[in-house]
Amino acid sequence: MMFDYDIIIVGGCGRIGLPLGLAFADKGLSVCLYDVDEKAVETVSSGSMPFKEEDADEFLKRLIDNRLIATTNIEYIGRSEIVLIVIGTPVDELNNPDMVAVPSTVEEILPYMKDGQLLVLRSTIFPGSTRLVQNLLVESAKKIDLAFCPERIAEGKALSELTTLPHIISGVDACSIQRAKNLFETLATTIELTPEEAELAKLFTNSWRYIRFAIANQLFIIATKYSIDYYRVLNAIREDYPRAQDIPTAGFVAGPCLLKDTLQLAAYNNNDFPLGQAAVSINEGLPLFLVSTMLESFDLHNMVIGILGMAFKSESDDIRYSLSYKLKKILRFKSKEILCHDPYVTSDKSLVELSEVLERADLIIIGSPHSVYDDISFHQPVIDVWGKLQTN
Ligand SMILES: NC(=O)c1ccc[n+]([C@@H]2O[C@H](COP(=O)([O-])OP(=O)(O)OC[C@H]3O[C@@H](n4cnc5c(N)ncnc54)[C@H](O)[C@@H]3O)[C@@H](O)[C@H]2O)c1
Repeated sequence: MMFDYDIIIVGGCGRIGLPLGLAFADKGLSVCLYDVDEKAVETVSSGSMPFKEEDADEFLKRLIDNRLIATTNIEYIGRSEIVLIVIGTPVDELNNPDMVAVPSTVEEILPYMKDGQLLVLRSTIFPGSTRLVQNLLVESAKKIDLAFCPERIAEGKALSELTTLPHIISGVDACSIQRAKNLFETLATTIELTPEEAELAKLFTNSWRYIRFAIANQLFIIATKYSIDYYRVLNAIREDYPRAQDIPTAGFVAGPCLLKDTLQLAAYNNNDFPLGQAAVSINEGLPLFLVSTMLESFDLHNMVIGILGMAFKSESDDIRYSLSYKLKKILRFKSKEILCHDPYVTSDKSLVELSEVLERADLIIIGSPHSVYDDISFHQPVIDVWGKLQTN
């Protein structure tokens, strides 16, 4: 059967779908980005990136309307040989993972799918979802191959990592695996697992990182409670001592993946994941710890507090699950006024200029350590959990 496009990406204008589409189009494949977000589709179609991603502006300008289109029209699903799903899989306000986000999207697009297509799940999914989707395909009686190939890039570095990191691939049968392998080998090397292994591989990777950062945050909290500078201790431990090089700095650990995937793994294992759950408590508790420590030294209720960096990590414009916002909420009850700045975040209209924060704040907290803050001479005290200002 002939198709008009090689690939359609469902969620194609999101943080993961768009760079992936750019990478495939850059390798010569024809790509359709399908998304329900009309504004994002419009922005992408006009050749502009809806968010910050290294090198993506140049890729998009070069590729849009030339091997790459964006659409909100679901009927394009039937016009592509490969249908790749990379929608968001968030947790709700009670921290429950949305287990059915991907299977529900499959049900939504299935009426438009055709025999001979390959369906690739690329979102991070609740374990067991690939088999659930396989059952949906069987029930539909359509002859569609199915693969699960989790995304492993870090936002901001997507375009370089997509073509350098190996892609984990899995499929429900030999043909699905071969087709997934052929697809991802256009970008980089591949590693084959079963769907069940691949589902866990993704959750293990992110839980591992989340717990690692939590250990550093707990050590930071212990040191601070005893009025000891964590970074003097950390630097001494690391100096010329290879086994300690990988101890992380403390910091706000947030974003759309690490917390959510740790919670998914806990939910999968009947809520039995003590290390993961302790990590959630430590990482999510860090803003509260900072505020309670500040209350011991400062009269916060009569002070203007500045927060520098609202994105969930440095050099990013993504505020999803950012702990800077949690800090801001806590401080609303404890301080006179809060002024927030971020050089990259455009979605928050309450942010103010850096000069205003520097001029008016009595105390500053570094929320995310963007490099633009490195060389500032502060005239007020600065709380820098990242230890960045001390090492520069
Ligand atoms: N962001 C990361 O750093 C990262 C890294 C690795 C893996 N992941 C995983 O990748 C997946 C996507 O994450 P993201 O950060 O790109 O999310 P995102 O919210 O930025 O993008 C998802 C996109 O899907 C669109 N969408 C949602 N439902 C749709 C539907 N039914 N039909 C068509 N489009 C739909 C949204 O409009 C949005 O543009 C998640 O499962 C996430 O866990 C994310």
